[in-house]
Amino acid sequence: MDHPIAVIDFGSQYTQLIVRRIRELGYFSRLYQASELRETGTPAAVILSGGPRSTLEEDAPDIDFEYLVEMGVPVLGVCYGMQLLNTKFGGSVAPGNTREYGPATLMPEDDVDGIFKDLKGHSQIWMSHSDTVKELPEGCEVMGRNLDGVPVALRWNERFFGIQFHPEVSHTDEGTEILRNFLNRATDLPAFQISSFKDELVDRVRADVAGRKVVCGVSGGVDSSVLAALLHEAQVDTRNIFVDTGLLRKNESEEVASLFGEVGIAIERIDASELFLNALAGVTDPEEKRRIIGRLFVQVFFDAVGDDVELLAQGTLYPDVIESATSGSIASTIKTHHNRVDKIMELKEAGRVIEPLDELFKDEVRELGRVLGLPERVVGRHPFPGPGLAVRCPGEVTQEKLKIIREADDIFIGLLREKHFYDSVWQAYAAVIPTKTVGVKGDERSYEYALSLRAVTSEDAMTAEWVHLPYELLGEISNRILNEVPGVNRVLYDISTKPPASIEWE
Ligand code: XMP
Repeated sequence: MDHPIAVIDFGSQYTQLIVRRIRELGYFSRLYQASELRETGTPAAVILSGGPRSTLEEDAPDIDFEYLVEMGVPVLGVCYGMQLLNTKFGGSVAPGNTREYGPATLMPEDDVDGIFKDLKGHSQIWMSHSDTVKELPEGCEVMGRNLDGVPVALRWNERFFGIQFHPEVSHTDEGTEILRNFLNRATDLPAFQISSFKDELVDRVRADVAGRKVVCGVSGGVDSSVLAALLHEAQVDTRNIFVDTGLLRKNESEEVASLFGEVGIAIERIDASELFLNALAGVTDPEEKRRIIGRLFVQVFFDAVGDDVELLAQGTLYPDVIESATSGSIASTIKTHHNRVDKIMELKEAGRVIEPLDELFKDEVRELGRVLGLPERVVGRHPFPGPGLAVRCPGEVTQEKLKIIREADDIFIGLLREKHFYDSVWQAYAAVIPTKTVGVKGDERSYEYALSLRAVTSEDAMTAEWVHLPYELLGEISNRILNEVPGVNRVLYDISTKPPASIEWE
């Protein structure tokens, strides 16, 4: 797509969100490293992200300022980006003694018609920085201050703007309006709509495949299902392989088979559950479990498709590309690295891997799935990790524990659906805690497993908040699990945010 809005990554944890917010506004945006500035083509606008470093450090991340000026497009520096621009224009930055992290108030200066146009004024903004700007270069205008009168927004000229706070995080009340106002200063903004992007993707897939035979791993999850549907739409000769690891949820294997049948996409189902469960017997170390699952998965997959794969399609998403892998691709089934992933690396190096979804965020992939005609129960599914229930089963993975998780999860998810909470939750599941605690069954003391329920909202799994499910609902879920799932005498609700907890247990 021509003229993307280029977001230059200086390493802030929020950088991806800038890209996302811009796409939510209906424009195409991509992330680039500072060293790639000259490769951005002719972007409609450039945003310099925040970052953890200080411009005062000797080897601080830099930007080709001369070229940035030459580009002639609007530029917005956010946090680190603003400090960097201030020094480039001849001003200076002072080290902060402490890191300012959290909410502050923005007081736009009265006479601005720039990026604070039509703001309500005095709104909450989100800070995360330590350095602040000290001397302002000649001609630089202050566009806004915090309650202490410290400049938090600058304009160096009619094209260069800087803000000390993060417009991309939801805690900045008018962040989206600020981004929109900034983008409105650009010409030739690249519109982004999934329905038209789909046609482009189909053409691209056909061109990339160029008549070769494709193999694709499907799991029933959103990413791989959308990928299979896209390959189908592009009428590419594809073998879709579904590996049943024995670590799937209740009835999942059958449901995946019937779902693909419904939409007319053929899949080959391989039951490898015994292989996986045998290999996991006696193993308790989480990393070791992942390694075993990852290795076996790749082995089973390549045993099925043969070693001379012409082309492998992976459902890698944009956040997987820019961060570490989270979902979708075969490589990411294995969060930790190991032998047979070499096979995939080998294919990659030989140019025999395609990742058609690698420019899309999860929500966009869901939208693409809808445009491709996949039913809501597929595109709306919660993410499910490659290593499956093993990461929800700390300690040894046993049939007994898997059965408990399956039954409890089925009740939990069933009630979330029934009470209309499923769609507003990013991910929910039951995990079994590998400790038996005391309870009373009839007149006897019993020692049975405790079960943990987790429901979170999230922005692409990078951070997570636990969901405030109503007590009545939690009570109903707990009662049903305690009554219907043998081997459990205690139900807990996990109220940990990520960070410091992760979404999964392992
Ligand atoms: P964590 O637990 O790291 O999970 O907060 C973040 C997201 O990634 C999923 N997840 C995985 N997905 N292979 C995957 O394909 C994995 O090894 C893996 N581990 C975690 C998790 O379900 C959540 O959505």
